[in-house]
Amino acid sequence: MKSSSSKNQALEQVKQSIIKDKVCPDLAASATQLVFGDGDPNSSIVFIGEAPGKAEDATGIPFVGAAGKFLNEMLETIGLERSAVYITNIVKYRPPNNRDPLPEEKKAFLPYLQRQLEIIQPKIVVALGRHAASCFLPQLKISLDHGHAKRITLAFSGQPLTLVLLPLFHPAAALYNGSMRQTLIDDFSLIPDIISQVKDPRISFKQVTI
Ligand code: URA
Repeated sequence: MKSSSSKNQALEQVKQSIIKDKVCPDLAASATQLVFGDGDPNSSIVFIGEAPGKAEDATGIPFVGAAGKFLNEMLETIGLERSAVYITNIVKYRPPNNRDPLPEEKKAFLPYLQRQLEIIQPKIVVALGRHAASCFLPQLKISLDHGHAKRITLAFSGQPLTLVLLPLFHPAAALYNGSMRQTLIDDFSLIPDIISQVKDPRISFKQVTI
């Protein structure tokens, strides 16, 4: 396994390449800074959101605003320290006025997200909301597929990466919606079981190759 410091170095190179490659220059110009990722690059679990909001744009750290506080609370309820997981977004600059990321913005950032995952080699990806989840499963309907873990194989340029994808509602969408909030909390409580099952090759998840 690569050490945290060599993974951090490789991740820093990906971050610098986003700047060098001038990905989404209009978004870059309207944002304060690039919000790349936070947490432990040796974690077996990666959480992926949509795009930075105001607080993330100001701090350079994903999920530090209201949605982030809710995410931290849910992590705590399942006994996971935020510092023990890795957190990032598909789109890495704040869209103006927090509008939804555009399809071309998600597409432009996808290779960099893939590089992040190739370096981290997670066993589980928790996709927070439909924008993150549909990067992996384009046909996905978050209202139907949330809470259903699937084993997927990502066919990157290098070695294919097989992992378990858990699509969930986005914490910001669920924050002030009572029933969605409870559904998200219930779905979140599946994570510890998935973590233990994923280590057991006899347990199969629905297999999808994309
Ligand atoms: N919502 C997201 O999708 N990502 C963040 O980093 C913050 C809010």
